[in-house]
Amino acid sequence: MISAREQYYCLLRQVVFSDETEYALADSSNLGRRLFRQDVPPEKLIDIHHGAVLRLAREHPGLPLALVADRLSAPLMEVTMTYSMAFRQQVEQKYSDMMQARLAQSSKLESLGTLAAGIAHDFNTLLGVINGYAELAGDALEDGSDGKQCLEHIAKATFRARDLIARMLAFARQQPATPVSIDPASVVADALQMLSVSLPSSLALSFDADVDGVTMVADPTQLQQIVINLCVNAADAMGTQGRLCVTLGCSAPPGKHTPWLHLAVTDNGHGMPPEVCERIFDPFFTTKAPGHGSGLGLSIVFGIVSALQGEIDVSSKVGAGTRFDVWLPLVPASVPDGETP
Ligand SMILES: Nc1ncnc2c1ncn2[C@@H]1O[C@H](COP(=O)(O)OP(=O)(O)OP(=O)(O)O)[C@@H](O)[C@H]1O
Ligand SMILES: [Mg+2]
Repeated sequence: MISAREQYYCLLRQVVFSDETEYALADSSNLGRRLFRQDVPPEKLIDIHHGAVLRLAREHPGLPLALVADRLSAPLMEVTMTYSMAFRQQVEQKYSDMMQARLAQSSKLESLGTLAAGIAHDFNTLLGVINGYAELAGDALEDGSDGKQCLEHIAKATFRARDLIARMLAFARQQPATPVSIDPASVVADALQMLSVSLPSSLALSFDADVDGVTMVADPTQLQQIVINLCVNAADAMGTQGRLCVTLGCSAPPGKHTPWLHLAVTDNGHGMPPEVCERIFDPFFTTKAPGHGSGLGLSIVFGIVSALQGEIDVSSKVGAGTRFDVWLPLVPASVPDGETP
């Protein structure tokens, strides 16, 4: 670590012992580079200048102050210039790394689209087979029996899987959704009902909706995807014990004045440190073990919320839990009030 004393002697050499300008400038360049490498903030350079001049004047009262200031000005400028150049190079490098990462991300999404298009047909055929046999098996069972109910869940899940693959294709091809007039509370309740089958029964799931009489123009599959992705993540963060609260209401998002649909998903799971929180919406970002998460859930949620011109907010505390807030306009911006596409 470069000490204040070392900085002082470096500058002192330039004033008192060295008449060779080139030598003094090279020395100052090195000082600038070393200060930069040690993350000394740029504004600290001014303090170093002041400190050096004052100390020289104090310890060498025989030296005329004007001479000190004069001899120091070129080397100090050199320190600052070297520092600024190193800083600029670092910023340029960061920018170029960021652009490379974005490029890599978009080509990953592109290959995902190609892959989805490639498997969509075979996948839908398989789903058709699963659904067909589930229906046949259901016909042979008593209405209301446990077995029949399980088969109904299988059938529902296959429909959802078919919708999901259609969404993935639409996402890859950037196709617009098909919004209709919906009752958001029942769409969310359906999604939670579907989800509850796969959640550990020891998890407490609550749903409170305060949206009586509110209708919304949206693609129901999109709203369900948001709910399911947020709840699956919450459940993963809680393991087998915890409280998952879903609320639905109407309120204005921060900075807005008109009421939007407000969905909040809160869990008391392991939470996230800020460095994870910063990256959760990046495609393919996951902290889960290989094979347990693709890191696409939240980037799909983010894509849907952005396409609907909504807002999403997250707050999380390690060891305490996480809360996601999603606000969606009740009517998409492109659809005039009162009209249903
Ligand atoms: N409620 C939450 N509590 C704690 N961490 C969360 C929560 N929600 C998301 N995360 C973190 O964000 C990461 C990204 O989430 P995302 O849904 O995009 O991907 P994933 O769940 O890892 O995989 P996938 O959803 O594709 O199966 C997760 O791996 C996890 O680290
Ligand atoms: Mg997920």
